[in-house]
Order: sequence, then C-alpha cells, then structure tokens
Amino acid sequence: MKVLVTGGMGYIGSHTCIALHEAGITPVIYDNLSNASARVLDQLEKITGTRFEFILGDIQDEQQFKLALKHTKAEAVFHFAALKAVGESTEQPLRYYQNNVSGTLSMLQNMQDEGVNHIIFSSSATVYGEPDYLPIDEKHPIRATNPYGWTKVMVEQAMQDVCNANSQFMGIALRYFNPVGAHPSGLLGESPNGIPNNLMPFIAQTAVGKRDVVNIFGDDYDTEDGTGVRDYIHVLDLAKGHVAAFMQHKTDTAFHAYNLGTGQGYSVLDMIKAFSASANKDIPYKIAPRRAGDIACNYADATKAQNTLNWHAELTLSDMTNDTWRWQTNYPSGLES
Ligand code: NAD
Ligand code: WQD
Repeated sequence: MKVLVTGGMGYIGSHTCIALHEAGITPVIYDNLSNASARVLDQLEKITGTRFEFILGDIQDEQQFKLALKHTKAEAVFHFAALKAVGESTEQPLRYYQNNVSGTLSMLQNMQDEGVNHIIFSSSATVYGEPDYLPIDEKHPIRATNPYGWTKVMVEQAMQDVCNANSQFMGIALRYFNPVGAHPSGLLGESPNGIPNNLMPFIAQTAVGKRDVVNIFGDDYDTEDGTGVRDYIHVLDLAKGHVAAFMQHKTDTAFHAYNLGTGQGYSVLDMIKAFSASANKDIPYKIAPRRAGDIACNYADATKAQNTLNWHAELTLSDMTNDTWRWQTNYPSGLES
C-alpha cells in the first residue's frame, strides 16, 4: 500500500517514513523543501536500504498535489507539511494561515475529488492552550494562544466537518506533545535553521559548542524546581504512533483525535541534567526572564491512545538525549554542511 507523506523530508515526517516502511507501507514523500535538506533522502536510504520516491511539490499547488495523488494512487495522506515557528506566526500570521490552513483545505478538496479518504494530521498539544487541568486528555477544551496554534485548531475543525459531511471520510488528528530525539543510527535528526526556539536543540547546540549558554526561561514557576515542565516524547515513539493510528482506523470513517505523549513531565533542569549525562560534560546555563506566552506545566493523558491504538511511548529520557547527542555530534551543522 502506498501513502503520500506531505512534509516527509522534515524532522517528524522523515522518521515516520521509516516507521511506515518498517510496517510494510510504502511512503511517497511530497515536500517543497522549505525547511528540509534534499539529503534527507540519502539518509533515509542508508537507514532503510530503500530509495523512497520523492516529489518536490507544494501543498498549496492544487494541480501538482492532485497529480501526485493520481500518479501515486496513494490510499492515504500523512500530512506533516506546515510552518511551525510560534514566534514567527505572530509576526507573519497570514503566511501561516495561507500555508497551514489554505494549503490543507485545498488538499482536503483534492483528496475528496480523487477519492482518497484517509488523512492523518500532525496536530499539537498547542490546541489546548493554557491547560485547565493536568494531565490533559482529549476532552480538554480546544483553543489557541497564537496564530500557529489557531492553524492547528482550524484544520482539525475542517477535518471534523469534512468527516461529518462525507460518510466515507476518515481523519485522525495526532496531538503531539514535545517531540525530541533523533534516529539511533545518528543519521537523521532535527536541525533547525538559525537560533533554535525549542529547548532540546538549544541544549544540543550548547553541548556541541555552537552556543555559549542555555537560557532557562524562568525559575519561579509553580513546579518542583521552578522551571517549566513538558512532556517530551521521542520522535521514534511518535512515528510509531502514526502507524498504530492508521492501522487501527484505516477501514473506519469519522474524525478521531489522540494525544501522543508519554504522560511524564520533565523540567528544563531535568533536561539539561539528562543531556549532560549523555554528552558527558557540563552544559552551561543561566536563569533568564520568563518567555512571553509560556505555561508552567504541560503533560498528556495518553490513555486513549494506549486503550484504542494499543500504543504507548516506550523510549526513555536517556534514549532521547543519547540519540540527540549522537546526531548532533555527527552533524553539528545539520545535513547541509
Ligand atoms: P519540519 O519543518 O521539520 O517539517 C515540515 C516539513 O514540511 C518540512 O520538510 C517543510 O519543507 C515542509 N513543508 C512546509 N510547508 C510546505 C508546503 N507548503 N508544501 C510542501 N511541503 C511543505 O517540522 P516537524 O517538526 O517535522 O513538524 C511536522 C509537523 O508536526 C508540522 O505540521 C508541525 O506543525 C507539527 N508539530 C511539530 C511539533 C514540533 O515540536 N516539532 C510539535 C507539534 C506539532
Ligand atoms: C520547552 C520548555 C521553555 C528554550 C513549543 C510550541 C508548541 C510545540 C512544541 C508545535 C519551556 C523552556 C525553551 C530555551 C528554555 N510546537 N526553554 N530555554 O514551548 O513547550 O512548545 O514547541 O506544535 O506549539 O509552543 O517547547 O521547547 O520551546 O520549551 O528554558 O532556550 O523549555 O520555557 O518551559 P514549548 P520549547
């Protein structure tokens, strides 16, 4: 069976292509390379022994996307393609709505036209906004606090409405918590452009000497050590969650949403400590002011995925930091270097 993977050259999409391949499903990658290196394809080949089919294309290009669906005869779309920088989304909201929302709406139309009735969408825990309670389950109210978050809320709503209107259609929204880690081969991982916004790549770049010091954004939160707590999940576990969700629902219709997290929260200081152990060196850090818009604590109730998909995260915090360190030392400047 073939599936089309939009954004399949990116961080989470590329790891999911490996998991799909391992499950006997053939991924065809559709990506405009706006935030990925063409060398990902070589790395995927080294890891899997297979050269995946790659279409250089944009989800906003209706004709090209339609052709890709026709050409590949894909039975489902795994939809990772999106812009994902929260700060940038507040500065360039229309670009985010255009790419993430309009792009997806035109995909959904094309999918319906071509009779491709299954979509698995990369949503985010950001759709819960500031948590009313912890751990967060899927019944928690949906809202957003920035344009990026609204793009996820809007796409989920559109998917639900399409499922309601079209009794053949099936949509799955996977709400990721904080994806981290890299492929254990050290060949594939996350390499953000410029200064990383997210904690783990910032720690990794500090450990490798590219950055001087990790700024801890606030140590006066109402958490055990005062620093922010998040539910970090290994990208390999996340990738397997996609396969589990698809296998469970591939003959179903309707809309389904799942949290993909570990259910375990770690603080910023926990992350720095764990990374120090993997890198076998001290990682310099200093306390900085809180970052605007941050919340103290966020972690998943992932029992719905456990009970319905028979999936749970298996990898540990040290797997996350060991694998990230291996990737970071192999490719300190990412794949373009
Ligand atoms: P990424 O930037 O590494 O991957 C996204 C890929 O999509 C890139 O390869 C990029 O080139 C491609 N792309 C972007 N716009 C496109 C377009 N118009 N047409 C075709 N390709 C396009 O990001 P990622 O971390 O792998 O995230 C994948 C998905 O998961 C995104 O939808 C993101 O919003 C979501 N998500 C990510 C996180 C996270 O922390 N990484 C958390 C929650 C949800
Ligand atoms: C984690 C913790 C920071 C950097 C973001 C998006 C979210 C989702 C995942 C896509 C927080 C602290 C961070 C640093 C720090 N993306 N921190 N120093 O904010 O939970 O989520 O990425 O859907 O939408 O908002 O992740 O990695 O940025 O921060 O102290 O240099 O690390 O304050 O407590 P976040 P993060």
